[in-house]
Amino acid sequence: MRNVLIIGANGFTGRHLLKYLLANSNYNLIGCSRNDDIAPEKGYTYIKVDICDAKALNKVFEQVKPDVVVNTAALSVPDYCETHRDEAFEVNAQAVENIAKLCEIHSCRFIHLSTDFVLSGKIDQLHTEDEEPEPVNYYGVTKWEGEKLIAAHCSSYAIARVVVVYGKALPGQHGNIVQLVANKLNAGETINVVSDQWRTPTYVGDIAIGVKKLIEIPENGIFHICGSDYLSIADIAFRTAEILKLDKSLINPVTTEVMQEKTLRPQYSGLSIEKARELLDYNPLTFEEGVANMFE
Ligand SMILES: NC(=O)c1ccc[n+]([C@@H]2O[C@H](COP(=O)([O-])OP(=O)(O)OC[C@H]3O[C@@H](n4cnc5c(N)ncnc54)[C@H](OP(=O)(O)O)[C@@H]3O)[C@@H](O)[C@H]2O)c1
Repeated sequence: MRNVLIIGANGFTGRHLLKYLLANSNYNLIGCSRNDDIAPEKGYTYIKVDICDAKALNKVFEQVKPDVVVNTAALSVPDYCETHRDEAFEVNAQAVENIAKLCEIHSCRFIHLSTDFVLSGKIDQLHTEDEEPEPVNYYGVTKWEGEKLIAAHCSSYAIARVVVVYGKALPGQHGNIVQLVANKLNAGETINVVSDQWRTPTYVGDIAIGVKKLIEIPENGIFHICGSDYLSIADIAFRTAEILKLDKSLINPVTTEVMQEKTLRPQYSGLSIEKARELLDYNPLTFEEGVANMFE
């Protein structure tokens, strides 16, 4: 039985992955995160660890002897990363380098989650894995640094870039655009959404499936693991309202210029999943199916 260590197991994606693998694999599962287990249940071991503490991380590897490590931990709020640069670099790049080195020492495969925000998103098209990153904000800079460090240190690795992840969150976890739209419209409140930034939103369950496939193959490299619907953030809001039969008139589409977000974001960062379709037989849900699953 393979020992699979999931780092960031308290996070939105990390917990979904842990639960998916509990139900759909025979791996020996170990979850770890910085705080106490957010929702303990049977079937896995939990270790509390700060991945920025190199000694403690080393101890976890000695104890667990992982065959596979999946890192879902990150500081991923762009505004926070912009104003807490040292902390963001420490978690998203330096700690990732430590994990990569430990994976190499322990001969284990490293699966790491990254983001569309490594790209500049200047061109209106679906981007492929071979495009050169050019982040437009500091979060993207740190995540790209993490990607490069893994490629430099690991002989067995896969980087899964995901995009605007949505799904059902646990109490205490951050929400997501679909949940936010549903909450606002259900409360009869208006919501401003950006109409000129395009993404390929990812159902969290599809990431779990994609990551399991990446664990099972020997190939190294970057894989885009996201949805196939190319939508603006405003489209995401309107489609969510349609699927959930909520009041669309409360949605107020505005341009990036009018929205005045604190941190610059790529305009067109939809990702092509052709490589994942071909090599992993990855077939994500449509946006409609994902939202229906989330609220079923
Ligand atoms: N969510 C999205 O829309 C999105 C989009 C693109 C890419 N991504 C990428 O996908 C991955 C998962 O994102 P997510 O939104 O699911 O993450 P998340 O919910 O924010 O969870 C991240 C987890 O990382 C853990 N963590 C942070 N710093 C840590 C540290 N120093 N030591 C140990 N654990 C630490 C936290 O654990 P505690 O709770 O225990 O503190 C947290 O639960 C990230 O790599 C992110 O960059 C996400």
